[in-house]
Amino acid sequence: MSNEPEYDEITDTYTTGHEWDGVKELDTPMPRWWLWTLYATIIWAVGYWIAMPAWPLVSDYTKGVLGYSQRDVVAAQLNEAKEARKIYAERLLSADLETIENNQDLLEFSMASGKAVFGDNCAGCHGSGASGAKGYPNLNDDDWLWGGSLDEIHETITVGIRGVHEDTRLSDMPAFLTDEFLDEGQIKDVAAYVTALSDKSVTAPAGSLEIYQENCAACHGEDATGNKEFGAPNLADSIWLFGDDQQSLISTISYSRKGVMPSWAGRLDPATIKALAVYIHTLGGGE
Ligand code: HEC
Ligand code: HEC
Repeated sequence: MSNEPEYDEITDTYTTGHEWDGVKELDTPMPRWWLWTLYATIIWAVGYWIAMPAWPLVSDYTKGVLGYSQRDVVAAQLNEAKEARKIYAERLLSADLETIENNQDLLEFSMASGKAVFGDNCAGCHGSGASGAKGYPNLNDDDWLWGGSLDEIHETITVGIRGVHEDTRLSDMPAFLTDEFLDEGQIKDVAAYVTALSDKSVTAPAGSLEIYQENCAACHGEDATGNKEFGAPNLADSIWLFGDDQQSLISTISYSRKGVMPSWAGRLDPATIKALAVYIHTLGGGE
């Protein structure tokens, strides 16, 4: 039912004139400011639909007259970063170690990209801090199998060790038991000889020096300090790749280990390999 609006004294408001069974409706519209805000947002939304990508279509979407695309923006940013990277990469490739280490920009670039690439490709074997594990050398110390100069590290990363690269670093310690060069007793003795080199509480058994000189010195050196040409570790220090307990030593000598490190040429681009070499060289143990 609809009547004329009436004045309601109690609320000091007019009614709308609507009435149901004696119940009347007060005329209290939304505040002006609220309505205008609503209209403004509607107008804004329509403007936005026209200007910007907004509505999904069956196999496409409305592009908007401004042609804005977040994808393009990201692509442009990536391109920019790539260009910047390229400039650094080219400078890095042609620079020698001294130049790199004296150039803050180049050094920072190498360290940052070297660290990231190391995490993705090397940490699985060498550990996240490059501190190594049994069979996987620590790259932080200054104990090197194949050499710790920038060039040597660069070469190791490029060609790998006992890998498939045609120039891979290669040298195999014989498996003295399996190859029947030594019997178990001799192996036990020479293992004790190796222990005695760094552990002064152990005395080398009689005759073990001769076994060492005849079978091992050619690679590990007369004084057992190793030979980087053959990747033969220093046996006179207290850093061990495969463990220093008698069982580990006997096992190494009996069966040999032949650690394999993949080659990264072709898998990582030359600038990345150089950045990695700088990163590792700078970790603390570079020669
Ligand atoms: C599949 C495991 C594996 C991966 C992945 C790997 N390495 Fe190695 N790496 C080895 C092993 C094993 C050796 C030691 C080989 C030996 O016994 O002579 C080694 C040796 C090295 C050496 C020589 C250390 C020395 O004392 O001369 C360097 C340098 C090195 N790795 C760097 C890297 C870098 C950089 C990466 C990543 C791009 C990497 N490695 C990835 C297994 C790996
Ligand atoms: C042909 C060269 C060669 C000869 C000969 C050789 N080695 Fe080795 N040795 C190596 C190489 C290379 C390694 C590096 C480990 C690998 O194979 O991954 C090694 C590793 C070792 C290790 C492991 C060191 C560590 O840090 O864990 C021990 C111990 C060792 N050799 C002892 C001997 C003894 C003892 C003899 C003699 C009975 C001998 N080697 C003869 C090349 C040689």
